[in-house]
Amino acid sequence: MNNKRRPEDLRSHRWLGASDLRSFGHRARLRQGGFNAEDWTGKPVIGIINTWSDINFCHTHLRARAEDVKRGVLQAGGFPVELPAMSLSEPFVKPSTMLYRNLLAMEAEELLRSHPIDGAVLLGGCDKSTPALIMGAISMGIPAIYVPAGPQLNGNWRGQEMGSGSDAWKYWDEKRAGRISEDDWAELEGGIARSFGTCMVMGTAATMMAIAEAVGLSLPGASSIPAADSAHPRMCSASGRRIVDMVWEDLTPQKIMTPAAFDNAIRVHMAMGGSTNAIIHVVAMARRLGLPFDMKRFDEISREIPVLANVRPSGGYLMEDFYYAGGLRALMNELKETLDLTCLTVTGKTIGENIAGAQVYKPDVIHPLSDPVSREGATAVLTGNLAPRGCVMKPSAAEKRLLKHRGKVIAFEDYNEMAREVERDDLDVTADHILVLKNSGPKGGPGMPEWGMLPIPKKLVKQGVRDMVRISDARMSGTSYGACILHVAPESYVGGPLAFVQTGDEIEVDVEARRIHLHVSDEELARRRAAWQQPAPRYPRGYGAIYSMHIGQADEGCDFDFLEGTAPIAEPEIH
Ligand code: FES
Ligand code: MG
Repeated sequence: MNNKRRPEDLRSHRWLGASDLRSFGHRARLRQGGFNAEDWTGKPVIGIINTWSDINFCHTHLRARAEDVKRGVLQAGGFPVELPAMSLSEPFVKPSTMLYRNLLAMEAEELLRSHPIDGAVLLGGCDKSTPALIMGAISMGIPAIYVPAGPQLNGNWRGQEMGSGSDAWKYWDEKRAGRISEDDWAELEGGIARSFGTCMVMGTAATMMAIAEAVGLSLPGASSIPAADSAHPRMCSASGRRIVDMVWEDLTPQKIMTPAAFDNAIRVHMAMGGSTNAIIHVVAMARRLGLPFDMKRFDEISREIPVLANVRPSGGYLMEDFYYAGGLRALMNELKETLDLTCLTVTGKTIGENIAGAQVYKPDVIHPLSDPVSREGATAVLTGNLAPRGCVMKPSAAEKRLLKHRGKVIAFEDYNEMAREVERDDLDVTADHILVLKNSGPKGGPGMPEWGMLPIPKKLVKQGVRDMVRISDARMSGTSYGACILHVAPESYVGGPLAFVQTGDEIEVDVEARRIHLHVSDEELARRRAAWQQPAPRYPRGYGAIYSMHIGQADEGCDFDFLEGTAPIAEPEIH
């Protein structure tokens, strides 16, 4: 692309280019920082939104990586400024980072709007940080490039490869069943997370980083690079160089994130065996762009695209192996007949040009379309009287016997009740029961915590049971697995049918038919509804209260009602 814009067209020119009193103040302050006119005159100002923090070990390296981005920006003739933003550390932030995704999205948007920024580099990767930063950048509508933090190195314990989350759940059950000792468990703790970077299974982080690349917002191949690989800082400086040209080209997310680009991203999600959480985030991103888009699109595409990435929890390998096997470009090249190759990306080139010639080096890690890892789609959207607006599951990560199943319910009103009951040795439960957890949705959790992989009752774990049907309005970690039916909408806290399920009811699940049915008559459900009382809100004040007032349901992407859509927002006055 040719340069289309002139320096006078830049947003930052309004702050720095005029000859009035305010601009004098801005320039004087830049000089206070040790800069001279040569540093900024006629140059795009690039905001590097950095979600580094001392307590987010997925982002430990982003402090240094911001310097690599700056180097690239300077090389290309831009003026880089780093803007720190809140860091959503998946393991530490309670009750759930999901409570804060929209807050980070707002922060990113407003940081960009309120400062003299012409283009944005978004540094994130740990789960919610990716959609949050992208949602903010979409709403701001200036050129933006996403720089994924990248996965950490493979875990290792006694010579066995360990995957984040997935192997913690697995060995926790081994410990509960008495098959490994306290000492084994303590030793495992030191081996499962070996470097900075995101979880290295196909959890929400790896899924969302891949989706960001597939939709066109990252440099080709960026999302697969392990955080600790020297290719990572090189990708960062290349992203810094590229954003400067994107500003001159006025290449905004709106020009990249088209409906066809979203379809490409969902196809990649399916082929990766991606996290169920991605559905919520992709719907939220699309709605920010004003695109009509719902969960059904995921279901349609999941019927077409099988799982190709042999990565846990659907497969056997880890993200480091995926990188050596050729990474996302190679996977997308395998999928190329199903993709719209004409979609534009941050490179200024099409996705087809970006993936041309990419090869799979390890066909056991990235399978061909003709021999997939699993023909079961990565995501199925079910509906029925229990979930009129839908619910989701990941058939590729469930025991096949449970994909068509009718069973008696054991219902829990909240997380604490569930956590107590599943440890009871005398719980009246069999492997054919269906566990139901209520009040764990967007408003009820609140924040839709990752409680959806309900623990298998201890009694059954000891008998060797490793999977059961579990139903909730919660989410589950992308590192989780099992026949977990999630995101039931509307949620129980707002009086969705899930609220009226009782122990002893029967539920029928038929994944092939995409159906979920509560075998209770409409009259009986109406009677239960009339007797129902909404639980008290957990957050009567503060951010939690604002959140509860404005949060949407899972099928709507859980955005705030006042953040959706594309109404133009005034540029700030400069007085
Ligand atoms: Fe950060 Fe999993 S904890 S990506
Ligand atoms: Mg997670």
